[in-house]
Amino acid sequence: MTNHNSELAFLMQQAKTRHKIEAAITHQFAPEDEGLQFALMAAKQAGLPQIQISPVQGKLLQLLAVACNAQKILEIGSLGGYSGIWLARALPPHGRLISLEINPTHARLASNAFAKAGVSDRAEVRVGKALDLLPQLVSEAPFDLVFIDADKPPYPQYLEWALRLARPGSIIAADNCVRSGKAFEEPEDEGMAGVVAYNRRISSDPRLMSLVMAMDDDYTDGFAISVVKQ
Ligand code: SAH
Ligand code: DHB
Ligand code: MG
Repeated sequence: MTNHNSELAFLMQQAKTRHKIEAAITHQFAPEDEGLQFALMAAKQAGLPQIQISPVQGKLLQLLAVACNAQKILEIGSLGGYSGIWLARALPPHGRLISLEINPTHARLASNAFAKAGVSDRAEVRVGKALDLLPQLVSEAPFDLVFIDADKPPYPQYLEWALRLARPGSIIAADNCVRSGKAFEEPEDEGMAGVVAYNRRISSDPRLMSLVMAMDDDYTDGFAISVVKQ
């Protein structure tokens, strides 16, 4: 009983420390401007699920975009435009973000958030099922950065498209590739199967160098990051 309680107290302390560290890093390195705050507020008011990336993840996407000198970025899964704003802000003035979104309400909110954030000149939302829209992007390739964050079952197919649309040196990032560790085990459902297969492929594909990182404030989820080898 005492052991159990002290272990629980230790875990709670650990979670608090992690939360504090995350807040400090966010404050110093990834503060949200009005555009990002508007996107969050509008999505919340419209009743969208609060499943956007964290500010630290947004800053990491920007860092990756700058690292590969991104001029063209592809996002799969816009939601309310939150991650798209982070990505668009990492582009040069003549750069381009194309964000794919199946839900017309989400797409409209994302477009509006892009306008409010002042990135409409370089960021657009295309409405439809990603697997239907991706073939149309061949003529607009190569994309320097691809961010995958839509429905989970087709993650392996999104990876194939990302590779087809990329160049040597491109970066492919995917959200939700930790899932409390379930993303590395035998999958129990279709969604997990997609993410498990995604991780297996990026870890063994000789064209890629990859790493999955737990980066939520409770370390339960995170990005898979892959570089297309030169
Ligand atoms: N990247 C966003 C969060 C995306 S949530 C952010 O961090 O701000 C996942 C989004 O993918 C939802 O808006 C959902 O409608 C969309 N989506 C789900 N299935 C899709 C599909 N087949 N094609 C395109 N978008 C899809
Ligand atoms: C879900 C989807 C996401 O992309 C995410 O980041 C978190 C949760 C979901 O479908 O539950
Ligand atoms: Mg996600």
